[in-house]
Amino acid sequence: MPLQGDSGGFATRLADIEPFRVVEVLERATALAAAGEDIVHMAAGEPDFATAAPIVEAGRAALARGATHYSQAAGIPQLREALSRHYADSYGLDIAPGRIMVTPGASGALLLIAALLMDPGDGMLMTDPGYPCNRHFMRLVEGRGQLVPVGADTRYQLSGALVREHWREHTVGAMVASPANPTGTALSRQELAALSAAVRERRGYLLVDEIYHGLCYDGDAPSVLEVDDEAFVINSFSKYFGMTGWRLGWLVAPEAAVAEMEKLAQNLFISMSTMAQHAALAGFEPATREILEERRDIFRQRRDFLLPAVQELGFAVPCKPQGAFYIYADASRFTTDSQAFCLRLLEEHGVALTPGVDFGHHRAGEHLRFSYTTSMERLESAVERLGRVLR
Ligand SMILES: Cc1ncc(COP(=O)(O)O)c(C=O)c1O
Repeated sequence: MPLQGDSGGFATRLADIEPFRVVEVLERATALAAAGEDIVHMAAGEPDFATAAPIVEAGRAALARGATHYSQAAGIPQLREALSRHYADSYGLDIAPGRIMVTPGASGALLLIAALLMDPGDGMLMTDPGYPCNRHFMRLVEGRGQLVPVGADTRYQLSGALVREHWREHTVGAMVASPANPTGTALSRQELAALSAAVRERRGYLLVDEIYHGLCYDGDAPSVLEVDDEAFVINSFSKYFGMTGWRLGWLVAPEAAVAEMEKLAQNLFISMSTMAQHAALAGFEPATREILEERRDIFRQRRDFLLPAVQELGFAVPCKPQGAFYIYADASRFTTDSQAFCLRLLEEHGVALTPGVDFGHHRAGEHLRFSYTTSMERLESAVERLGRVLR
């Protein structure tokens, strides 16, 4: 293949798609651990717990009875029905199974929604900092993420006013995550309604990533569907259900969008992992929910330990993270180069954190993300190590 220009002969879109910088930290952390160093891992974006035993058992049973073939492109009916019941039980919402599509992770849902909504050159408003893949999904379908710098004044979220201020002719919608990665802040019902109103005024689309629902520690987060039945919802079995490696998520779409998305899903995925879908059904059983709720309590205890500890170390955390398993800390007292700072903390003190540059551009060099996806004992060890170097 001839190699030309910046993109080495490959499609020009590749130049706009950035790698995760945390990978450098993770690879170095793995190498140091393999060399016998004692590393506290606080960079991962997934629960440290293994998938709950009843889910694993259901997956095993599905394999044993031969659930190894393709399944429906929108997901097996039992799982779409279980998700519909989940919306009734958890939110008091009546969402028909036909509006719910099972996807290969929230990632698959994001791809389907991007492909459904974006024409070349269209823009989607999103927060900076935010989950970095969002803008890359938009770019992949020749649209673009319109990054809106956000800070503590809006709890790192988009607001109705920000949507109005940043909307341009090519903008087709706005997306938020509640609770968000990397900040853990959640939107109230009123804030969701204000966002919905601002987007509706422009006849745009509202996308809400609810992947960290279930992992809220000061009361449950409302679903956008409570205030806007036409919004697109992205969700997943990865986080609360602890199934990252099974690659299973879902989306809720307005009735009119489902047939087109099903067509896309047939072409892009054919089907999700059939075994994983049968396993996920067990996620809704009372015995499993008990395990998952215990884990939620453990995450809460970790947050309640780590948040004041991080602040005591000299990091500023102006907005209390209400959910997910992250603390987004302002490290401007210590650095303006979060990537170099993270590598130094890893090399010299054995603590792996994620640099802010992974989540966008806005004051990214001055921020770090702490993941409390490791045991309390390890968190205490990390705080002690950081205390020695930073105080
Ligand atoms: C906000 C957000 N959305 C989507 C994803 C993708 O998750 P998955 O594809 O594992 O469901 C992640 C993963 O970290 C995330 O943090």
